[in-house]
Amino acid sequence: MSPVFISLEGSEGAGKSTLMRVINRWLEERGDTVVSCREPGGTATGEAIRELLLDRNSGGLLPLTELLLMFASRAQLLEQTIKPALAAGSSVLCDRFVDASYAYQGGGRQYSHNQISQLEQLVVAETMPDLTILLDVPVDIGLRRARKTGEPDRFESEQRAFFERVRKAYLERARQHPERIVVVDASARQPAVRKQVLAILEQRL
Ligand code: TMP
Repeated sequence: MSPVFISLEGSEGAGKSTLMRVINRWLEERGDTVVSCREPGGTATGEAIRELLLDRNSGGLLPLTELLLMFASRAQLLEQTIKPALAAGSSVLCDRFVDASYAYQGGGRQYSHNQISQLEQLVVAETMPDLTILLDVPVDIGLRRARKTGEPDRFESEQRAFFERVRKAYLERARQHPERIVVVDASARQPAVRKQVLAILEQRL
């Protein structure tokens, strides 16, 4: 089996963590060595950037700084983890990737597609996932789930309208890239979501 690069996306409360484990196991069972990582974060520098980004006390963080820090973390992850892993024949499973910047900084913070695309060309270039699974959940359901799990971070503290824009931008991105992004209805119960994801893996890879 040739190595694959998969990213998993979704807004707050979509249930990414459980599905990360499901996908990881599926890849291992077909014999892949799997490197699993997350964004923002995934490297020592990236995790330090993540802390700054998620900290509710980073109140003065400009939207532009946020955008650049997301791509700074991504640059570290690509060079230190993703590219070496793929070159060594491992598969990579990433909890969020560049689509999240189109959704959160594009949709949420309202940066234009063109501005984000310029950073994407600089940082990501050709190293795009082979498959992206987007867990889509209505905002109310997602926020209710997310807010059950402890103190909200800087993003989780945003208003409902922010998350509506994030969801819309994710779905728009899926419409623009149907060859790569598959949308899964994550409002269903966990076993049904898991079944949908496994079917996509079987069909697409
Ligand atoms: P997490 O919820 O997957 O741990 O991600 C942390 C937060 O970072 C989440 O609220 C989404 C946000 N984020 C962006 O705003 N832009 C990005 O490019 C990425 C990767 C994450």
